[in-house]
Amino acid sequence: MNNPLEEDVVLKLAALEKTFEQGGRKLQIFKNLSLKVEKGEIVALVGQSGTGKSTLLQIAGLLDKASAGEVIIDKKSTQSMNDRQRTTLRNEDIGFVYQFHHLLPEFDAVENVAMPMIIGGHNRSEAKDRAAEMLRDLGLAERLDHRPARLSGGEQQRIAIARALVHDPKLLLADEPTGNLDPDTSAGVFDLLMGLVRDRGVGALVATHNLQLADQMDRGLELKSGKIVPF
Ligand SMILES: Nc1ncnc2c1ncn2[C@@H]1O[C@H](COP(=O)(O)OP(=O)(O)OP(=O)(O)O)[C@@H](O)[C@H]1O
Ligand SMILES: [Mg+2]
Repeated sequence: MNNPLEEDVVLKLAALEKTFEQGGRKLQIFKNLSLKVEKGEIVALVGQSGTGKSTLLQIAGLLDKASAGEVIIDKKSTQSMNDRQRTTLRNEDIGFVYQFHHLLPEFDAVENVAMPMIIGGHNRSEAKDRAAEMLRDLGLAERLDHRPARLSGGEQQRIAIARALVHDPKLLLADEPTGNLDPDTSAGVFDLLMGLVRDRGVGALVATHNLQLADQMDRGLELKSGKIVPF
């Protein structure tokens, strides 16, 4: 990557190590793992089950800590941050999409999308206006007051995508974002996700077992034996 100042690097993992301790035994997941994701690029993360894709996304998203190495989000080194600083950075700069939508069942679509902004200290009615506008743009104008149980799987996942991107994060982390949908719905939701990421110039790292989807992304990385290799 010909970018010595790393101006456009939104995620950098450097010399990452991760070891889990389980029943007195050590399980090393990453060994000297490094990768970069730049603004505006969509990077596929593939690898066999159990190689550590979800663990990598959790560490990149500051939800888990590496055993050693550096996690740099939008040029900010996170190693010496305290929990409060990590939470603030996560809320402002990172959006997450998971295989299961994790929408809050007792809140409607607009409230679900607005929630991270409200928790982040934004004005409640402005956050809800912005959420409603984004949902209308995603073709969900008729579903704004639906609770998750009254939405289809594809609609639920579109709302989860809106929630991940509504606050204009620098980095999107997605873990099997269409893994729970039928092939047609999956293709539609994937196209929507890619369109939003490209329009907004977000850097995205997307873990998937679907190699057809991986082929449509800008670049592929494979997790193999604790390291990253080109895919
Ligand atoms: N908290 C934990 N304690 C101990 N071991 C763990 C923990 N979390 C994950 N692991 C182990 O780390 C390895 C990587 O798990 P991870 O969920 O990251 O894999 P994955 O690549 O996302 O797999 P899949 O494709 O099935 O989602 C697995 O062998 C798992 O058992
Ligand atoms: Mg996983």
